[in-house]
Amino acid sequence: MDIAASRDAFRTGMRRVAGAVTIVTTADAAGERRGATATAVCSLTVDPPAVIACIARDSAVGRMAPESGIFTVNVLTGDQRPVAETFAGRTGHVGDERFAVGDWTAGALGAPRLAGAVAAFECRLEKAVEFATHVVLFGAVVGTVLGPAGLAPLVYVDGRFAGVADADVDAGSGQPDSPRG
Ligand SMILES: Cc1cc2nc3c(=O)[nH]c(=O)nc-3n(C[C@H](O)[C@H](O)[C@H](O)COP(=O)(O)O)c2cc1C
Repeated sequence: MDIAASRDAFRTGMRRVAGAVTIVTTADAAGERRGATATAVCSLTVDPPAVIACIARDSAVGRMAPESGIFTVNVLTGDQRPVAETFAGRTGHVGDERFAVGDWTAGALGAPRLAGAVAAFECRLEKAVEFATHVVLFGAVVGTVLGPAGLAPLVYVDGRFAGVADADVDAGSGQPDSPRG
C-alpha cells in the first residue's frame, strides 16, 4: 500500500472514483442561462430532499447561481456525452450558446432542464459556502423530473467518459431510493 499525502496521490485517487456526469444549470432574471459539466454533486438528505454541488467560483455557474438562487442538476445518460463535452468547455461554446447542444427547456424555477436525462433535480439555493477555489451550492429540491426507465447513466472515471454496461435502471423495486439486489 502506498500512503502518500500529496496532491498527486490525491488526484490519482480521485481519478479512480467513478462519478455520475451531470450538467448543473442556472439562469438569471434576464433569462441568461449558464451551465457546467459537474461530477462533484451528491445527495445530501432525503428529508428534506436536498443536494450539494461543488462548483468552481470562477466558472459562469459559480458566479451566477449564488446570485440567481436557483440551480438544476441534470443527470446524463450514456448517449448524452456530446452535451457533457460541450458544458465542460471542450467545444469552444461559452455562456448561453452551450444550450444549442441538447434539448433544453426552462424548468419549474427557471433553470434549464435537459430532455431525456436520467433525472433532473430542480433546486432552490438554500446556502452557498465558499471553500478555496470552489463554492458548495446547497439545494433544496423542489422538483424531481424522472426520465424514462431503463436509461443507463454516463460516468467519468480515470479521465474518460464511460457507460455503465450492466446498469438496468428501474428494473428493481420501482422505488428510486431503495436498495437494489
Ligand atoms: C467529467 C467532468 C467533471 C467535472 N466536474 C466539475 C465539477 O464537479 N465542478 C466544477 O466546478 N467543474 C467541473 N468540471 C469542469 C467544468 O465543467 C468546466 O470547467 C466548465 O468549462 C466550467 O464552465 P465555465 O466555462 O463557465 O468556467 C468538470 C469537467 C468534466 C469534464
